[in-house]
Amino acid sequence: MKIVCIGAGYVGGPTMSVIASKCPNVIIEVVDLSQERINAWNSDFLPIYEPGLSDILKESIGRNLFFSTQIEEAIEQADIVFVSVNTPTKTFGKGAGKAANLEYIEKCARTIRQYAKKDLIVVEKSTLPVRTAEAMEKILHSGESPYHFEVLSNPEFLAEGTAIQDLLVPDRVLIGGRQTESGIVAIEKLADLYAHWVPRERILRTNTWSSELSKLASNAFLAQRVSSINAISQLCEETEADVGEVSKAIGMDERIGSKFLNSSIGFGGSCFKKDILNLVYLCRQYGLNEAADYWDQVVIMNDHQKDRFIDKMIKTMFNTISGKKVAILGFAFKADTGDTRESPADYVVKQLLEEHCEVTISDPEALENAKKDLGERKNLSFEKDPYLACEGADATVIMTEWQAYKSLNFEKIYTSMRKPAFLFDGRNILDHLSIHQLGFNVFPIGKPSYVHELKKV
Ligand code: UDX
Ligand code: ADP
Repeated sequence: MKIVCIGAGYVGGPTMSVIASKCPNVIIEVVDLSQERINAWNSDFLPIYEPGLSDILKESIGRNLFFSTQIEEAIEQADIVFVSVNTPTKTFGKGAGKAANLEYIEKCARTIRQYAKKDLIVVEKSTLPVRTAEAMEKILHSGESPYHFEVLSNPEFLAEGTAIQDLLVPDRVLIGGRQTESGIVAIEKLADLYAHWVPRERILRTNTWSSELSKLASNAFLAQRVSSINAISQLCEETEADVGEVSKAIGMDERIGSKFLNSSIGFGGSCFKKDILNLVYLCRQYGLNEAADYWDQVVIMNDHQKDRFIDKMIKTMFNTISGKKVAILGFAFKADTGDTRESPADYVVKQLLEEHCEVTISDPEALENAKKDLGERKNLSFEKDPYLACEGADATVIMTEWQAYKSLNFEKIYTSMRKPAFLFDGRNILDHLSIHQLGFNVFPIGKPSYVHELKKV
């Protein structure tokens, strides 16, 4: 059997590496339009940072796993085609800022139709609005192609930073397809592939639309938890409550559970916001305005959390940050990834630059992406070494919960900073009291601030 995966990104690369490692008899070719990306996959410098990826990749690359830009030839030989291309939110026209841009998906469907040489199973892996499979089917079956294309929805639930583990031991694998004879055969064929390493009872079969909607809904539920605890963090800052204590107390209720209750500067990443906006758009299309407003609020709360953080910085630093120097520790949207898509740090940095701050960004893995995202700008610099980034700064801001930041020598950092020295912990990862005792004015999220020279805020 030959599998082709169109799109060699954060989803396609890790997913195919794991399938190749678990199914050595299956030939897998991952194709992409970008020669640069493919070259990187074929080198020692992978295009994405993901713990454990390089080891698992090495098992199969050149054996049954190949990366290339030969899209047409690959499709000609394929039995199953996974579509794993990016589906950003539309930036123009109808649904701009809300609906998904399906341009890349459509292009893939047309390419598959044009080059297929036999009946094919086409698997949607990208996160897509409900009923995209239907649109794909229509494109695939339009025109003259003599072949039958069975479209399946097989959403990816991996989280960046833990992608390999999530793929190796998934909570569930979801396969949606048409409830017809050929649809069920296709679902079973894909289920057999996963059954090489996933227990059968964890492989769920549903109809296509349930599968597509489950992906959007799962991400909306997770994001909603983060927005819920962030809403509580705002109340904590106005009272004597500590969001860490509240979160622990809530999470110990087994009905609620403890995950995704860490208050933060806000969620980022390529999925949460995009998927919720998709959900909102869908609800509105069906006239479900209350449901749309309900989910919309999760994004509104997330945006507000970032604005509040910036407002607090300005207010505590004597109502002006113009000309002040700020060190941003962390630009990735979460730890253990180099991905910066929708990173809260991006928004914060842009706002600080608007205020004429001098900003230095540091990050162990995301500096190259940060440079691409922000380009050359006045008052902006990049510095891999966190100690150098903080030198002469008025404020140090933790934006990503990198493990390495927890064990920085804050005494050394304090000594090198301008005084009064401020520390804003956007991820609540530090021991605030002991850092305060070194001399810092410390501002966590949803917890008491520790202030020396200033009035309590
Ligand atoms: C998410 C889903 O978890 C995954 O199943 C789906 O396939 C893709 O989208 P990802 O975006 O990679 O994965 O990361 P995730 O771990 O979900 O974190 C998303 C954002 O929420 C990050 O910015 C993270 O820092 C933030 N977050 C998460 C919090 O602020 N608090 C938490 O308690 C958990
Ligand atoms: P994701 O997080 O969904 O994996 P990425 O942006 O990391 O998203 O990866 C998507 C990849 O899909 C990119 O490398 C992009 O070049 C590729 N791509 C987009 N459209 C096509 C297409 N029509 N054919 C082949 N590759 C494509």
